[in-house]
This record gives sequence, structure tokens and C-alpha cells, in this order.
Amino acid sequence: MSASIAFPAVIVVGASGNLGPFIVQELLKQKVKFSRIGILSTPEKRAKFHTAAKYGVDIVLGNYRDAKCYEGFDVVISFAGNSILADQPQMIDAAINAGVTHFYPSEFGADISQPAFLQERYFQDKHLTRQHLRKRASEIPGFVFTEMIIGAFAETFILSDVFGLDRQGRTFTYYGDLDDIKSISSMEDTAKYTVDSILLPFEAEITERTLRVPNGNYTVREFVEVLSDLDNTQYETHVFSVSDARKQQESARLAGSTDLELAFSLKSLFSSPFMVVPKPWQNGIFNFKPKNLTEMIQGCI
Ligand SMILES: NC(=O)c1ccc[n+]([C@@H]2O[C@H](COP(=O)([O-])OP(=O)(O)OC[C@H]3O[C@@H](n4cnc5c(N)ncnc54)[C@H](OP(=O)(O)O)[C@@H]3O)[C@@H](O)[C@H]2O)c1
Repeated sequence: MSASIAFPAVIVVGASGNLGPFIVQELLKQKVKFSRIGILSTPEKRAKFHTAAKYGVDIVLGNYRDAKCYEGFDVVISFAGNSILADQPQMIDAAINAGVTHFYPSEFGADISQPAFLQERYFQDKHLTRQHLRKRASEIPGFVFTEMIIGAFAETFILSDVFGLDRQGRTFTYYGDLDDIKSISSMEDTAKYTVDSILLPFEAEITERTLRVPNGNYTVREFVEVLSDLDNTQYETHVFSVSDARKQQESARLAGSTDLELAFSLKSLFSSPFMVVPKPWQNGIFNFKPKNLTEMIQGCI
């Protein structure tokens, strides 16, 4: 095993998105383990981070392509959203130039190394980022990176209209089969796994580490049942074929609507058997019990 830095300085990019706030909160809970916790964002967003600053987080204002922003930090955790995923190679180079030794790319999803996902449009920028990280890790002694693989977030899958939930209308629309199995995670638990993993040493000679830590595997039918129980009403399900989603994806592409194209790409991806995170999983090396499906959903409705 190679030693990890005793009290690393950690900076988060994309801190105010869907997942970022959970990590910032977890970093603050565990702040005695870190010499410095930072958030990198742009000057016009300063006000969003007022509370974090009050709790001792350093708010670094600048451009994520600029090495100066990462000076004094050992670890970068990127939560780049879809529209800036393609900028991650520049972010990585800037971080390396500033002396960062450990990078977490914005992954936090399916295991995209599975052959079925290698050409998938939705994962294109994540693949390019991985390739870039591998290249830089082969060039820079001591530089390592960690990919966190969690499947799909309960918060996003169940509770978002992107995936077919209409909570007001009590309906759920799905492209695929209700008995499809998914690996599902809670953002709060993923934040715990991520923050705990910062201090886990890397195996000797290893520069790329993939941690597969979903909360559990569940069928779509189970989601709907749990949600129906919690909302005390039976959700009506509308099921369509995956090819319907692909057709809508293509129409959106032709119409030039990238957001809609990606939304339908995601719907079809969700019916894929590859959305189940392959085992072995590494949850056992961490010291807490993750939430079950009911707890995950209860925590965010
Ligand atoms: N598996 C799943 O179910 C699932 C669900 C959601 C997300 N994810 C993954 O988790 C990661 C983070 O996703 P997220 O949903 O948290 O991302 P997000 O909310 O869309 O965006 C995260 C951050 O990226 C920055 N950003 C986004 N668009 C930008 C732009 N045009 N210009 C400048 N900055 C921009 C913002 O940073 P500031 O905070 O500085 O404004 C934003 O807060 C992604 O890799 C995503 O694929 C997975």
C-alpha cells in the first residue's frame, strides 16, 4: 500500500449542484481529518457559498481551468455537471500543475467500463476524462485517481420527472420492464463513501482505483411499491419499450435539443441490464450501514 497524506487539503468543484452539497456537508462533519476544505467556483456565485464559508470552508473564486485555483490542495473532487464534463481534462491539467496528487472525476453513476457503455453518447465525456487521467497518471509519479461507482441515485431516479415520476398525478412512466433491476444509492451515503475513501491508501503501483459502492439492488416494481406505500396511494404505471425512448432521443438530436437528447438517452440506458453495478462491491471496507430503499426514498420526499 502507498501511504496517503495524513491531513489532506481537499477542494470541491461543482459544490452547489445536486450532489456537491452532500459532500461539502460530509467533509465538514469529518473536518478534523482535513487540513483544509475548499470550494472552487466563480466570483458571481460567491453568495451561494456564504453558509459553507461560515463553517470554515475556503471559497476559492476563479476559473477551474486555472492552476492558481488549486494551489495548496492535495485532492480535487469534481462534480462537474453534464454541460461542463468535457472541460475535465483541462481541470485535471490545471490541478496537476498546482501540485494536486489525487483526483476524483465526476463519475458517480454506472460502471461505464462495461463494453455496452463504451460507445454510449451519454458517457462520452466521462470516457475521455478517464483516458486523460490514465495518460497523466502514467506521466506524473505519485498522481492517482478514484472513480466512485454507485448506479443511480434514488433522489434522481425515483423523484425526478426525467425518469418518469409524476408525483402530483401519481403516475410513473418507464421505458423497459418493471422487473428490471437497478443498483440504487443515496447521495448522503455516497458522500460518506467518498469522503471516507480519501484517507484509504492506494495499493502500491496502482494509480487508478474504482470503488463500487451502491446502497443496493432493487427492481423498478419495488420502487413503485415503496413509493406507493410511503405516499399512501397506488401509483399508476405506464410502460413503453426502450426503442420508443431511442426514437425520441434521435428526434431530439435532429431537432438540436441536447438536453432532451440526453434525457431520452438516459431513459433508455436505465432499462439496460448494465445499470446494475457489477460485483464485487467495496461497501464492506467502510464502517457504516447504508440506507435501504425505503430509508433512501423517505429521506428525500
Ligand atoms: N447516477 C445518478 O443517478 C446521478 C444523478 C445525478 C448526478 N450524477 C453524476 O454526478 C455528477 C455531478 O452531477 P450533478 O447532478 O451534481 O451536477 P449538476 O448539479 O448538473 O452540476 C454540478 C455543478 O457543475 C457546475 N456547472 C454545471 N453547469 C455549469 C456551467 N454551464 N458552467 C459552469 N459551471 C457549471 C456548477 O458548479 P457551481 O456549484 O460552482 O455552480 C454545478 O453546481 C455527474 O457526473 C453526474 O453524472 C449521477
